[in-house]
Amino acid sequence: MDMLKRYNFFIDVLIFTCGLYSVASLEDNELKLITIGTDVTDGLRRYLRSTNKYDLDAEVFGIGMDWKGGDVANSAGGGHKVNILKKELEKYKDQENLILMFTDSYDVVLTAGKQDILEKFKKFNARVVFSAEGFCWPDPSLAASYPEVKSKEKRFLNSGGYVGYAKDLYEIITHRSIKDTDDDQLYFTNIFLDETLRKKWNMKLDVKSELFQNMHGAQGDVTIKFKSDHSYAYNVITGTTPVVVHGNGPIKPEFNRFANYLADGWTTQNGCQACKEETISIRELKDDEFPTVLVSLFFEQPTPFAEDFLERIANLKYPKSRIDLFIHNKVEFHNKDIASFLEKYNDMYRSATILMPSDGIYEAAARNWAVEVCKQKNDQYLFSVDVYAQITDPETLIDLIEQNRTVLAPILSRPYKLWSNFWGAVNKDGWYARSEDYIDIVEKKKIGLWNVPYITGAYLIHGSLMEELRDIYSAESLLE
Ligand SMILES: *[C@@H]1O[C@H](CO)[C@@H](O)[C@H](O)[C@H]1NC(C)=O
Repeated sequence: MDMLKRYNFFIDVLIFTCGLYSVASLEDNELKLITIGTDVTDGLRRYLRSTNKYDLDAEVFGIGMDWKGGDVANSAGGGHKVNILKKELEKYKDQENLILMFTDSYDVVLTAGKQDILEKFKKFNARVVFSAEGFCWPDPSLAASYPEVKSKEKRFLNSGGYVGYAKDLYEIITHRSIKDTDDDQLYFTNIFLDETLRKKWNMKLDVKSELFQNMHGAQGDVTIKFKSDHSYAYNVITGTTPVVVHGNGPIKPEFNRFANYLADGWTTQNGCQACKEETISIRELKDDEFPTVLVSLFFEQPTPFAEDFLERIANLKYPKSRIDLFIHNKVEFHNKDIASFLEKYNDMYRSATILMPSDGIYEAAARNWAVEVCKQKNDQYLFSVDVYAQITDPETLIDLIEQNRTVLAPILSRPYKLWSNFWGAVNKDGWYARSEDYIDIVEKKKIGLWNVPYITGAYLIHGSLMEELRDIYSAESLLE
């Protein structure tokens, strides 16, 4: 509920700025972005960050609803989207000057503002433009029914992005009935492939990615470019600069990596812009006002320098009275290190939960246990650290909290080695792959906030995620 209120406030501010903008630029068309998001996820926040950045008027439908459209990343579905729009777009159907641009939200980032979008749209000479991709999905047998395209163009409709006059879009959306569990892409495909309907609404496909870049099957087609302190996506095959970048289908890690840079999130000239946004400040607080943290330490293998490790935890600049300790030790060899650490510091901490080898708890169970303790103690954060992760900077915990992200890991490195505690990419089997920017990041040539597919060793998780993370660890999910 809290989220929703804040979120409405956010939209109000956007509408206000756009009102001013349209007067100033004397555009004769209004542009409204519409999307659907049932939960305020990091993905939705990323979408809104980008629409906000470019002063776009964005409206999100479906917040708080139960999603009935299935898992659209991996299978057919999504009819629920059309049904939500049927209801929500009615109020716009008679606004002749209004152009609506629908995109998905969790896997979409905008890279330009109203003027660019309208100019590009008008070049199509269409009433409605759909995004295109290289796969004919979900019914490949329809491929031959599509109009032909040139060799470098994409032939098939993707319903994750479309733009058009409100009136025409409303007619298309209400043309037929669709079940929540039916496929929305098939719904629009069938309409598009019907030549009479295609002409009636003057529908076109964005075969060159002038507006919409669908990334699935096209990762090699797009690259990030920088111009002074701005970043944008560039399609090297068609020479276009798409405004909507969509990580459709099963390529989320690649899209997430790409999106780190988009909407000026990171630029060659100014470095990390996103790092400066939505941060909080806690270091000026009085000791007893600091957020409470469950610091959980894991000793899973015999590891050198465990004493130093513990001393560094004790040296973190953070009031111990606001830290609940959780220790899981599976290794007899470390008993004495932990005993002497506790002897020295135990009384200063808010509480301590200690699991020793004699308790016979496995790693996955222990990690799940830490999540439970975090929840039980109502801690605002869980900071998980493995014994090999020497936290050399005492400010680390405060720095991580002040960055105000849901899940955040500091980068750990080994001198002169390319090892780190994150992966920049994953391969098809879900295993390590090296991303284009991995080395620059590990060597700190690029400093920033990076959305990556895998982290380990040390990380901070916001307490609000504990319910979702319940029993998340299993023997299989713990690599090594
Ligand atoms: C901190 O993050 C939360 C969740 O992303 C957000 O709602 C909140 O506004 C952020 N705080 C500030 C001060 O920006």
